[in-house]
Amino acid sequence: MPTNKALMVGSERSGKPSYASLRVGRLPNRLLVDALDLLDVREGRALDIGAGPLNDTRFLLQAGLSVDAVDTDPLILSAAAMLKDRRLNAIVDDIRNVRIARGAYLLIVAIHVLPFLRRADVPSIMSSIINGLRSNGVLCCTFFGVNDGWAQRRPHMNFLSRSEIDCLFPQLRPIEISELEYDGAEANDSPKRWHIFRCILRK
Ligand SMILES: C[S@@+](CC[C@H](N)C(=O)[O-])C[C@H]1O[C@@H](n2cnc3c(N)ncnc32)[C@H](O)[C@@H]1O
Repeated sequence: MPTNKALMVGSERSGKPSYASLRVGRLPNRLLVDALDLLDVREGRALDIGAGPLNDTRFLLQAGLSVDAVDTDPLILSAAAMLKDRRLNAIVDDIRNVRIARGAYLLIVAIHVLPFLRRADVPSIMSSIINGLRSNGVLCCTFFGVNDGWAQRRPHMNFLSRSEIDCLFPQLRPIEISELEYDGAEANDSPKRWHIFRCILRK
């Protein structure tokens, strides 16, 4: 498993440590663990959008899936090299530039990344994601709500209400859409109010 220290080097070149460098080597997100339990088969491809430290990607590989991991942070290349797994395809790019092949994926994961898109980009990305799921495929994603601590300070991000989220995926069957609000911390340990929607849906 890669260590934080090994991966900090790349991100320190650009000054501030990236999210991925601060979070590498952690357990997978609980939402993904629950989503994976819903799959009938464990052979096929998964797409991890905003894969960052590759904690969720690593879990998907261990579960038997091939993974396309996309992130704008080049650190995913060094993290991927350390995993030494030929089933992993690490792509350094903005998800808005990546062509998601129709019906390619058994599982698509987008945890804590969609809120970083501009609001105007959300419908087209959601449409590409849904198009990329196989029939019966599962989407596991999060959104930030309007009470999130960043909502007033980060106009380039999007913060959605429950009713807006309900309108995003009319073609999918919701398995879980839960809402959490709590005081916690950012990756750099600064205090932050979190307002998160956790979503698992099936095509
Ligand atoms: C908060 S981190 C979450 C990382 C990972 N999904 C997790 O839960 O640990 C968000 C990640 O999304 C990446 N990211 C942000 N906007 C992106 C975009 N438009 N396309 C691809 N990756 C993006 C960032 O570089 C960062 O690694």
